[in-house]
Amino acid sequence: MRSWYRPFLVGEEKIVWLSQESIALSNRYGFRDEIDKYAILYPIRMRGYPMNGSDVFKLFEKHSFFPSIARLSFASLRARSRLFLVGGALRDLLLVGKICREPDLLIEGDVDSFLEFALKDGYHLREKTPFLTLKLEDENGFKFDISVCRKESYDAPGALPRVFPASLSEDLYRRDFTMNSMALTLTDPEKGLLYDPFFGFNDLKERVLRIIRPFAFLEDPTRIIRGIRLKARFSLVFDELTLKAMRIAVDKGALRWVGWVRIWRELEELFKEDKAIDGILFMENLGCWKSLGVKFGDFEKLLLRKVALQGFESDIDRVEFFTLVIFGANPDGCPERWAKLFQLPRRLKKSLLLAPLWRRLKKMSFNERYRFLREAGKSVVKLWSLCLEEDLFPLWESYNKARPILSEDEIEALVSGKGPEYGRIKMEILRLQLEEGINDKDEILRRLKERSV
Ligand code: CTP
Repeated sequence: MRSWYRPFLVGEEKIVWLSQESIALSNRYGFRDEIDKYAILYPIRMRGYPMNGSDVFKLFEKHSFFPSIARLSFASLRARSRLFLVGGALRDLLLVGKICREPDLLIEGDVDSFLEFALKDGYHLREKTPFLTLKLEDENGFKFDISVCRKESYDAPGALPRVFPASLSEDLYRRDFTMNSMALTLTDPEKGLLYDPFFGFNDLKERVLRIIRPFAFLEDPTRIIRGIRLKARFSLVFDELTLKAMRIAVDKGALRWVGWVRIWRELEELFKEDKAIDGILFMENLGCWKSLGVKFGDFEKLLLRKVALQGFESDIDRVEFFTLVIFGANPDGCPERWAKLFQLPRRLKKSLLLAPLWRRLKKMSFNERYRFLREAGKSVVKLWSLCLEEDLFPLWESYNKARPILSEDEIEALVSGKGPEYGRIKMEILRLQLEEGINDKDEILRRLKERSV
C-alpha cells in the first residue's frame, strides 16, 4: 500500500480505498455521501513482483522502430535509469499482438542524464513540457513520447492534474484501468520483465475493463468516455464495480466538471472508432448524453440503427457524421451552442448548422434547396437521406454538376448586364433544367419569355 493511500471504512466491513487527494476533494466538493453509495468491497489487489514478459518482448522486437528503442534503452542504462513500454501501446501489444501507433515510453530515474546520453547518440529533442514529458526523434524520423514517472494531484474534480516526479509504482497507480497500468521493462538487466501491479494481464485475458480506484472517474471524468471507447474498440466488458463507479460519477454530473473542449476531444476519438455506434449507445444507457445536456432519444437511436444496417460509404467523415447525428439532427437540438462550446473547426461547424435543415428541405423553394444542397458535404447529405428516408445523393450530384444551358453572354443579353436580375434568370434556368427536366435551349428561352422574366 502506498503511503498516501488509506482504506476508508464504510459501514462495518466495507472498505473503499481512497487517496488523500480524493478525500480532500470529496470534503471540499460535497460528494462525501457518495462514499456510502460505493458501499463496496474494493480491495486493491496489488502484485508485488514483476512477471516474465519475454513473449510480449519478442512481439515488440519485431517492430521497425525497435532498434531505435534499443538505443534509448542503452541510454537509460548509462544514466542508471529504467525505461519502460507503457499505456495503450503495451495494452495493444498484449491484446492484438502489435502496436499501431507511436509507442508510449516511461522513464524512471535521472532524466537529465538520460537526455544527455540520448542527444549524444544523435536523437533530437522535439519537445520538453512542464508536465514531465519529452518528445525525441531519431535520424530516421521515428518519434517517441517519453514521460517521466510521476504522480498527480487534482485541485478540483475534473481539473487538469498537477504532476510531481515519482517512482514506477506511483506512476502506474495514477492511471485509469488495470490493463493500461502495466509496464514492460526495456533496460538491462531487467529487460523483458512485465510490471503488472493490478493484475491487468488477467483482466486483459478475460477482456474486462476495471478501474484501479473507485474515484478514478471522479478525478478525471473524461475516463468515462475513454473507457466506453476502449470497450467498443476491443469488445470488452466493464467489471461490476467499475460500472457502478461509472454510474455514480455520471449521476453526480461529473462529465460537466470538465471543460467542453476536453469532452469534445474524447468524443472525437470515440467517433473515429469502427464500433463507435456501440459506444454512443452505451453512453445513452449510462445517461451520459442527458448529463451533458444533449437531447438524445429514440430519433437518434433510429438514425444510428439505420446507419448500422446500411454501413458507411468509405469517403464519409465519421467524426463529422456522428457529430451531426448527435448534435444537429434533433429538431430541439441547438447546433450553434455545441459548435461554440466545443470550439469546432469552421468546416465542421458549417455542416452542423446545415444538419437540422432536413426538416424544411421538402418545403423549400428551389433556390433555397439548390443553395443548401450545394453547400452540404457528404456527411450532411447522408444524414438528410436517413432523416427523410430518401436517397438524396443523386439529387446532390445533379445539383453539383448542373451548369445553365445558356452561356453567360446569352443570359447577359436577356437581362442587359450582370445585376441581381442576372442571378435570378440563371436560377430559373437551372430550375427548369433540374426540376422540370428541360434540356432544350429553345424551350428554355420560350419558357423564360412566357413567364416574362
Ligand atoms: N491515462 C489515464 N487517464 C486519462 C488518460 C490517460 O490514466 N484520462 C493513462 C492510461 O494509462 C493510458 C495512458 O495514460 O494508457 C496513455 O494515455 P493515451 O495515450 O491518451 O491513451 P492510450 O490508452 O495510450 O491510447 P488510446 O488512444 O488507445 O486510448
